[in-house]
Amino acid sequence: MKSDFLTYQAQTTPHPLSLEVSHAKGSYIYDTNHKAYLDFVAGVSATPLGHNHPKVINAIKEQLDKYLHVMVYGEYIQKPAVELAKLLAQNLPATLESTYLVNSGTEAIEGALKLAKRATGRSEMIAANSAYHGNTMGSMSVMGFEERKQAFRPLLPDVRFITFNNGEDLNHITTKTAGVILETIQGGAGFIQPENGYLEKVRKRCDAVGALLILDEIQPGIGRTGKLFGFENYNCIPDILVTGKGLGGGMPIGAFTASNTLMHLLQDNPKLGHITTFGGHPVIAASALATLKEITESDLMAQALEKEQLFRKLLVHPLIKEIRGIGLMLAIITPSEEVTNSLILTCQRRGLILFWLLFEPTAVRITPPLTISNDEIMEGCSIIIEVLNKIKK
Ligand SMILES: Cc1ncc(COP(=O)(O)O)c(C=O)c1O
Repeated sequence: MKSDFLTYQAQTTPHPLSLEVSHAKGSYIYDTNHKAYLDFVAGVSATPLGHNHPKVINAIKEQLDKYLHVMVYGEYIQKPAVELAKLLAQNLPATLESTYLVNSGTEAIEGALKLAKRATGRSEMIAANSAYHGNTMGSMSVMGFEERKQAFRPLLPDVRFITFNNGEDLNHITTKTAGVILETIQGGAGFIQPENGYLEKVRKRCDAVGALLILDEIQPGIGRTGKLFGFENYNCIPDILVTGKGLGGGMPIGAFTASNTLMHLLQDNPKLGHITTFGGHPVIAASALATLKEITESDLMAQALEKEQLFRKLLVHPLIKEIRGIGLMLAIITPSEEVTNSLILTCQRRGLILFWLLFEPTAVRITPPLTISNDEIMEGCSIIIEVLNKIKK
């Protein structure tokens, strides 16, 4: 199987982790040799309720028996998508009332960028250095990491970059700016949180010049930071909220949410301003609805902050320089890329899944399912400490 995987399935790196999955349940993934791996990554923040959560699986199975794809997005009334959009609105500030469902995070970013241009009649986008918003052409244009996009130029024109958390840079946001796009917490950059009222300042500046604020919550969203969305921690409401990953509960999804007034603009001039065949797919929407219900009705969000404290208490070691992030969006910062690589690869051999962040080579991702138990956290952290003890400083 490994040779077929490497031969026939296009790869993203020369050295994929190549764990051959047999099945997964709760906080564990099992390989075809019956070895269990404790999952501290949750499919890169995409399975907030762990693997095969019974409520998610039942919702999917029930929908499978009713109908799959029946029509392109937006024409027919399909209950799972309608209920999902409504539940999102009920859990968001009043201005974020209408949701457009798509198939992936990057596609939701594309929709948000288009909406900002359409709403303002302007073309300039302001994005942040070290930002990651996805890998299609528009999203890549607002990615703040030149090395990874050089080969794909020309990209979108009229994109300017500012430095996250730098107040002076906000002067670059002007009456020419259609939208300012930021991750609420910078993910690929190393789980960098906004500081000193940064997002409030961005909000004020956008209001002053008539630019729209787009917040990318694809990673921090859906309960991971102790709130349903990260922006709730920072007193700043975006004009367009972009979500994905964990919203699908393990199924592929993206979504952008805005006011009805803004979202109506996609209906005309030009008509069909944004269209998709599979967006709002009934099975995926059913999975997302079950996930969102469970997260909003349980105490998993509050527990995320308690579990963060347990991680911080247990992960103390000379090779851990810092733990960044909030809730269950945490990153260990090691002294070097070598230590990071060694920790991740050795832990996988020891049955603990960790992963890298995109642009910060010294960071180790800890984004477990929100359902992880305290015992599982203790089990995984003791493996990390044992492995670090064996790494030469
Ligand atoms: C902050 C952020 N934005 C956008 C994306 C792109 O989402 P997708 O991979 O579903 O296209 C990601 C994925 O890692 C992300 O972390």
